[in-house]
Amino acid sequence: MDSKISQREQWTSKLGFILAAAGSAVGLGNLWGFAYRASQGGGAAFVLLYVLIVLIVCLPVFVAEMALGRNAMASTLLAPVKLAGKNWYPLGILFFIAPLGIASYYSVIMGWTADTLFHSLFFGLPKNLTEAETFFGSISSGSSVLLGHLLSLVLTAIIVSSGIKKGIEKVTRYFMPILFIIIVILAIWATSLSGAWEGYKTFLLKFDFNELRNPQTIRNAFTQAFFSLSLGIGIMVTYASYLNKKSNLPKLSVGVASLDTLVGLMAGFITFPIVLTFGLSDAISESTVGALFISIPTGLGSYGAAGRIVAVAFFALAYIAAITSSVSLLEVPVSSLMDKFGFKREKSVWLITLFLFLAGIPSALNLNILGTVDSIFGGVLLIFGGFLVTFFMGWVVPGKFNEELNDSKVGIKTTRYLKFMTRWIAPPIIGFGLFISVFDLMKSWVS
Ligand code: TRP
Repeated sequence: MDSKISQREQWTSKLGFILAAAGSAVGLGNLWGFAYRASQGGGAAFVLLYVLIVLIVCLPVFVAEMALGRNAMASTLLAPVKLAGKNWYPLGILFFIAPLGIASYYSVIMGWTADTLFHSLFFGLPKNLTEAETFFGSISSGSSVLLGHLLSLVLTAIIVSSGIKKGIEKVTRYFMPILFIIIVILAIWATSLSGAWEGYKTFLLKFDFNELRNPQTIRNAFTQAFFSLSLGIGIMVTYASYLNKKSNLPKLSVGVASLDTLVGLMAGFITFPIVLTFGLSDAISESTVGALFISIPTGLGSYGAAGRIVAVAFFALAYIAAITSSVSLLEVPVSSLMDKFGFKREKSVWLITLFLFLAGIPSALNLNILGTVDSIFGGVLLIFGGFLVTFFMGWVVPGKFNEELNDSKVGIKTTRYLKFMTRWIAPPIIGFGLFISVFDLMKSWVS
């Protein structure tokens, strides 16, 4: 096994890692997930909780995941066992199954995105809400949804099969700068809308203290933070296993988390003004998983040619963001198969892609199933995974965690802070978030 591990690929540079990790983080979660969850209520309390969770809880989880990956220098399936013995194999298995669960429906939403992009480009935008709803109905059913799902998976597979340097790193190097440019331009454009101020207010200033105690808002904030940062299921474990020993893990994680949160907030600065300018708050508060695909095209549809250009830019942005995320979701199980069974990269990629296509069919054909799979795999399991990772690094193998912090050459204060947070603060807070989230999820099932 050691010979295999010594041949592990590495990122060509720190920037390569940052762009790839930020590429994983910035995705449909920032656009679709944010709009979807923010639309379920919570207002500014939701946004505040989300940012606090990122700062207090997710940063330690991020560093813990990276420390686990870099110390083990192995894929997620084997990393916990390598550090702490066979009893921890179930954690590796969770890291293997959870990304598969997310990837299976992520490509379905990517398919909707591609469809909306093509439609905006070649046919134009819906004239009103009814037309937009009919359009969303047509792209989220029948053969068109399966085609979008398949194409998105194949595209992801092609990139991942080219490897770390030639595939993932190369694509993210080109795509991430383009994405940042588009998002900044769109956020500037949104300031010119008549409802811009109303949008910012709804997004950031409508503060209701009671929302801080609403289990749904708490679950949404935890889910959004973990999902958006790609935490809890070993993505950062895998990506950090391709890092060299010299990189400063805390610094890298702060860099990636800041980029992601910035993009999340900027996406809000685009979607909320559009929604409020065109009087669509009712549509969005119906909170279907399709909120983004219904409200944004409708809003922009009443804005003539300029609206159409913006729609094309917006959905192109979403698709680019999604690709750099879906490659990370595929890389995790692929690298595990390679490590565990000695499979070649291509073989692992296509085997898993076939599995994902089949596993995603129920979500593709039924929005309720998609919503449920999302709330389990893209929600409570991530929070559970985050809990386990901090518990594991903080309490089970604290020596290894220490080693990684020392190798990162962060100052003594940062080391102490991270150790304290990873042992005493993150696990109980995440445990609390998990408890509330499971409770709220079950409640939503019985009602
Ligand atoms: N973070 C990505 C997004 O915001 C999605 C994603 C990629 C993800 N990898 C993940 C979510 C791992 C949770 C865990 O769209």
